[in-house]
Amino acid sequence: MTKAIVPGSFDPLTNGHADVIARASQMFTKVYVGVAHNSAKNYWFTLEERIALAKESLKQFPNVEVVAVEGLLAAWCAAHEVKVIVKGLRSGQDFEYEYPQAVLNADLAAVETVFLPSNPQLGHISSSIVKELVSYGGNVENLVSKTVFAALKRRLETN
Ligand code: PNS
Repeated sequence: MTKAIVPGSFDPLTNGHADVIARASQMFTKVYVGVAHNSAKNYWFTLEERIALAKESLKQFPNVEVVAVEGLLAAWCAAHEVKVIVKGLRSGQDFEYEYPQAVLNADLAAVETVFLPSNPQLGHISSSIVKELVSYGGNVENLVSKTVFAALKRRLETN
């Protein structure tokens, strides 16, 4: 059984993320979606909210499980016998950002990172762009799940 993890901040999960996760779910018997903390980021949603939104948006995939990854991703992988990390790549810039993490995670826990090229129709989507658009009143209905769309609307109303 080959288990993989798709880690990220998922603040919030976008259709781009969901596409990578759906493709990974066809390649591996079990796919964890690891909702993690990136110390460089200020989040719109708490860890619990990001997990709940990802769970609801991905419930149609029976071999996908959303989990919290607290602490080092490599340590989580070692503890759960996960040997593969899957990341989506939208651009060369993404690769520059991902490459050192992939090397580090391989060094720390012998975990390989597999990169999936983003679907060309979704490669422009990022959580940051979604939040930027929403905060200026843009419509992001086609970029995120219905659940995430509703959560973004609620978030704006309470700000
Ligand atoms: O969606 P993001 O914010 O680009 O995802 C980055 C994330 C959360 C996957 C990365 O920061 C991470 O793995 N954080 C967990 C802590 C960790 O292991 N840091 C060292 C990375 S080599």
